[in-house]
Amino acid sequence: MTAPVIIVGGGLAGLVAATELAKKQVHVVIVDQENEANLGGQAFWSLGGIFCVNSSNQRFLGIKDSRELAMQDWFNSARFDREDDFWPKKWAEAFVNFATDHMETYVKNAGISFANVGWAERGDGSATGHGNSVPRFHLTWGTGPAVLEAFEKPVREAAKKGIVDFKFRHRVDELIVDESTGAAIGVRGHILEPSDTARGVASSRETIDTFELYGSNIVITSGGIGGNVDMVKKNWPVDRLGPHVPKSFVVGVPAHVDGRMIDIAQEAGANVINSDRMWHYTEGLHNWNSIWPQHGIRVLPGPSSLWLDATGSRLPAFLFPGCDTLATLKHICSTGYDYTWFILDQTIISREFGLSGSEQNPDVTNKSILGMLWRIFGSSPTGPVQAFMKHGEDFVVESSLSDLVAGMNRLAKERDGPQLDVEDVRREINLRDMQFENQYSKDAQVMLIQNARNYPTEKRGRVAKPHKILDPKHGPLIAVRMNLLTRKSLGGLQTDLDSNVLRPDGTPFPNLYAAGEVAGFGGGGVHGYSSLEGTFLGGCIFSGRAAGLKVAEQVG
Ligand SMILES: Cc1cc2nc3c(=O)[nH]c(=O)nc-3n(C[C@H](O)[C@H](O)[C@H](O)COP(=O)(O)OP(=O)(O)OC[C@H]3O[C@@H](n4cnc5c(N)ncnc54)[C@H](O)[C@@H]3O)c2cc1C
Ligand SMILES: *[C@@H]1O[C@H](CO)[C@@H](O)[C@H](O)[C@H]1NC(C)=O
Ligand SMILES: *[C@@H]1O[C@H](CO)[C@@H](O)[C@H](O)[C@H]1NC(C)=O
Repeated sequence: MTAPVIIVGGGLAGLVAATELAKKQVHVVIVDQENEANLGGQAFWSLGGIFCVNSSNQRFLGIKDSRELAMQDWFNSARFDREDDFWPKKWAEAFVNFATDHMETYVKNAGISFANVGWAERGDGSATGHGNSVPRFHLTWGTGPAVLEAFEKPVREAAKKGIVDFKFRHRVDELIVDESTGAAIGVRGHILEPSDTARGVASSRETIDTFELYGSNIVITSGGIGGNVDMVKKNWPVDRLGPHVPKSFVVGVPAHVDGRMIDIAQEAGANVINSDRMWHYTEGLHNWNSIWPQHGIRVLPGPSSLWLDATGSRLPAFLFPGCDTLATLKHICSTGYDYTWFILDQTIISREFGLSGSEQNPDVTNKSILGMLWRIFGSSPTGPVQAFMKHGEDFVVESSLSDLVAGMNRLAKERDGPQLDVEDVRREINLRDMQFENQYSKDAQVMLIQNARNYPTEKRGRVAKPHKILDPKHGPLIAVRMNLLTRKSLGGLQTDLDSNVLRPDGTPFPNLYAAGEVAGFGGGGVHGYSSLEGTFLGGCIFSGRAAGLKVAEQVG
């Protein structure tokens, strides 16, 4: 047999590349530092939202979307402005085209179906700015595990035929480059001691041996940096998201998302770009039931909660829940504190609190139609949300405002944050509530709520009927301390449209490919500064596919 193709990282991007290679009978070895239970990486934990444009699901729901609108939204969100954006811009255009013409068919042929089309990143309040003009977040029926299954299954079948081999607990520490040709020819690293830890749990880094593997081509699909808080802090763009690097984060990804391969590839001569561009969330909860270290869960908020900064001031328009993640992050950083407050009530939490992650959505993950109907038509929060209300350290649930604020002040103390005055908080809530006397209002958040209710799917299942938070009929009152949560790297290894890694001088690095988060989801930063969501799984699929197709052509 000829030398295999070596794929470093058995996450979604690696599995998609392997699927394409296996279709052409190309021998593949998948090397991963974790054990077999972790195959699939982050995708297993994901909510399974996939960005598609003018899909049959959108059309069924009456959403009028188009390539042109999506392209505008993408570029207005990305705001490409650097010389290094040459390939990212080409990737962005190619990705939106793929999301319009092929993504739906590609994933549905792989066995994926969609449960709903949600509206993520609703934007900054302007047609020319950030955000999705229409709902595009195609929620996979079965969430992350179903996305993973679609690409794990063909790879496992190929493994049975001997076309794919797995090497688990093999950690790559170095790329082997042929000195005369400059081509990537192999990987070198350490074998980690056997581990039977469950999926997502941090595993031992104790090494037992070294290894060396040679291949015809190397595909790096090792993920981003979000599990490495030190690296996130080191790359923090203080000029854009300052004045200081935030002190505390909860962590939205498993510990294996350690970013090591980025430096390793750079040392071997690969070009790394846009490391200062990252995608972190502002609505993170400390998980009361952690799987990985400092495990944080992101709240997917509907539009109605009142959002106050640590000093008790309402966030300005258009920094409302679910609108513009990075602009909100920037504003929070400018306050000097790394947390904020959501103020809401029982009615709002029941309708509007989603939690990101497959394990936080047992109804959709387990494909329970009854469970889904219960969520849409029921009048209580989902089981996982109720568990957070009961056990979550960031939650205060009280029937009186003075008790609520006393509880908030206890939590603020833990973070050296300011103590709030109950009358100041009452005034902020009252100012909001007075805008709910009429169907119309001068308040942009009230307009946002009314607008969301024009999308029937949202009106039915996702947006509470407009009401006053201090109306006791909707109680008890709830305050949630929202923390910063690390998640995604938007920059990474620079690649051309074939996912071929480039060198700092712009020439292709022979036989070295990269896809998924390590490559900035394509090109070294297909998102520019900002994402429209559902574009990470989508980006892994599109860039992993490109790498698989090109390498198959190379060796074929
Ligand atoms: C809770 C959660 C919810 C999400 N929801 C969504 C969503 O709804 N929509 C969306 O688009 N995106 C979502 N995402 C993001 C998306 O899941 C990830 O960006 C994507 O799965 C990354 O895939 P990847 O293949 O690039 O990397 P990973 O999944 O990180 O896989 C990389 C693999 O490489 C291995 N590896 C790393 N370094 C080495 C080394 N040196 N040697 C050997 N092996 C190595 C790792 O062990 C790992 O198995 C979510 C993520 C999380 C965590
Ligand atoms: C959306 O897709 C349908 C079906 O393929 C097509 O007929 C229609 O022209 C598309 N709409 C736009 C705006 O491109
Ligand atoms: C799905 O159902 C099974 C069996 O009832 C259960 O063990 C599992 O925890 C459920 N999955 C999720 C994500 O809740």
